[in-house]
Amino acid sequence: MNTMKPSKPVILTGVRANNNIHIGNYFGAILPIINMTKRRPDEYDINLFIPDLHSFTTPIDHSKLYDSTLNNARVYTAAGLSLDNPSIHLYRQSYIPAHSELTWILDCFTGFGEMSRMTQFKDKGSKGDASVGLFNYPVLMAADILLYGATYVPVGDDQTQHLELTRDIAERMNRKFGDLFTVPKPVIQQHQFFGKDQGLRIKDLVNPAKKMSKSDESGKGIIFLSDDPKSAHKKIMSATTDSIGKVQYDKENQPGISNLLEILTLVRQDADGEVTLEKTANEYFGMDRYGDFKRIVADEVAEFLENFQNRLAAVDERAIEEKLASSEKDMNVVANETLYRVQKAVGLRK
Ligand code: TYM
Repeated sequence: MNTMKPSKPVILTGVRANNNIHIGNYFGAILPIINMTKRRPDEYDINLFIPDLHSFTTPIDHSKLYDSTLNNARVYTAAGLSLDNPSIHLYRQSYIPAHSELTWILDCFTGFGEMSRMTQFKDKGSKGDASVGLFNYPVLMAADILLYGATYVPVGDDQTQHLELTRDIAERMNRKFGDLFTVPKPVIQQHQFFGKDQGLRIKDLVNPAKKMSKSDESGKGIIFLSDDPKSAHKKIMSATTDSIGKVQYDKENQPGISNLLEILTLVRQDADGEVTLEKTANEYFGMDRYGDFKRIVADEVAEFLENFQNRLAAVDERAIEEKLASSEKDMNVVANETLYRVQKAVGLRK
């Protein structure tokens, strides 16, 4: 069995369709892939897609889904995605039926036990009457990745377990059927590739023990890309800190301050990719007035949002729709090739 070899290594990621994309999504997944398109534009195929089928594993307002999906494409574009580079592919998952078809096949090679260990399901699924879709979504995610032979998949820390699951499913099927899938790199190598030592996990501003998450209902601990800069400023000014009274990067004892140092570094990186956490932490090390430090972070976050929102207002809707249509056409061809190879391997095709 021949593995389809894309001409260039593929980097792939997606953010669920949502009008409430937050800075964790932006800095954890969107920006790393966009920076790669800028730094090494011709070395990779870049698939930045919209997992619209993943967007209702928990209940949503379906009258808004279609527009939320387009909103993701607008956000990717405002973040700097070039629409005229032919190596960049922007598409919606549900426009490529092979995603759903491959999911079913992968399902039959995935253990109920291994799925039951997925911590995200355990966290969200334990809250009541969870859907089968929520349980199964990591397998759809594996299909998203394996259909295109992706090598690198930039995701935040909360998704790394799903990436490991994808590798396990691919290796299991390769052992059984020959060289069927390109296996994405192990998580550690993924981080090295993106120049980090671990996955990003921006924390909630009110409760820095948990991650910033769109499912948080109050919204007080989250900076959304759509937040009015003034209200984002207020959220940072009321972020939870500690009683130690000295700014330093110490995630264990000062999770709130450490989170603000990370956020400050990330908004600065948006303008200048060379800024590091170490540099920011050294700059403010030992500062003893948290109010002054918070004001610096709040000012820069507000400025980042203002710039981002100006770029968002200026995106070219028509160019986005044209890019979606052309990528969806091209990606159907790539995905169907992989699907056909798998169908043959499992005996569905001659
Ligand atoms: P989603 O839509 O929940 O989140 C999108 C991306 O944002 C990252 N993220 C964070 N990063 C840092 N700090 C945070 N607080 C934070 N919160 C979220 C997530 O880790 C993710 O990378 N199943 C995926 C979407 C998906 C996908 C894929 C991703 C579907 N198919 C294939 C990669 C490849 C999800 O629900 O992400």
